[in-house]
Amino acid sequence: MQIARTAAELRACVAALRADGRRVGFVPTMGNLHEGHYSLLQVARAHAAHVVASVFVNPTQFGPHEDYARYPRTPEADANGLRQHGCDVLFAPQVAELYPDGIEHGVRVSVPALGGVLEGAVRPGHFDGVATVVSKLFNLVQPDLAVFGQKDYQQLLVIRRLVRELRFPIEVIAAPIVREANGLAMSSRNQYLDVATRARAGAIHAALQAMAAGVRAGEAHEALETAAQASLVAAGLVPDYALLRRADDLGEPAAGQRSALVALIAARAGSTRLIDNVLI
Ligand code: PAF
Repeated sequence: MQIARTAAELRACVAALRADGRRVGFVPTMGNLHEGHYSLLQVARAHAAHVVASVFVNPTQFGPHEDYARYPRTPEADANGLRQHGCDVLFAPQVAELYPDGIEHGVRVSVPALGGVLEGAVRPGHFDGVATVVSKLFNLVQPDLAVFGQKDYQQLLVIRRLVRELRFPIEVIAAPIVREANGLAMSSRNQYLDVATRARAGAIHAALQAMAAGVRAGEAHEALETAAQASLVAAGLVPDYALLRRADDLGEPAAGQRSALVALIAARAGSTRLIDNVLI
């Protein structure tokens, strides 16, 4: 595996990969890699001969009071893990390489319609930061395809919109959510949870499944959302939202709609905010 730290090094590495004319897949990450990330690599490998991954904790997608400073950074373990999981090129730039004019005054990419609701409402500017860094990474790597986890469902829709509007010739592939034994979706932030809280956080997936089952049984959306919130509270979590939305644009579904939906939950477990979703 080659490690590129600058845009010039990355371009040289990707050009060498492309020499055989086969497809290049890309997996962008913020590092602190776990099985969930490695499953994205597997998906990329299944669709492309070459795999490039990036590890970059992107400052512009964190709010001023969020965990940018303490976000877990494990560069050596990440490089070893990527090597073991068949990554060909790792791009691990410093902040100044991607934001040469500083993070305050650099170019911004915004996806207004999708970026301002749900997670975007709770984390203003978050999706602008994601859209900005993903645009920069796409422009540098120029992959044929890129893999994003379904866990960050709103992010996935934002990226799809970005690709469509900026006409990036990149296929966006969604990878299924990888879960712990109790259903908790894998996330780098899970390591902030103590053992007891981690066990209680399994209630999030249980609540999503109950919402999905209720929809299929024809129950009223609002009652299902209320019941999901109550079950989260009963498990000692603090829900931000438990909602049923249209899967394609996160709009409010028609009453009685039973398919093309997504159930989404954001809940706090202590000071850690967890998100998860299930497609219906
Ligand atoms: O999902 C993530 O890890 C990040 O939001 C991403 C896509 C790597 C952009 O920083």
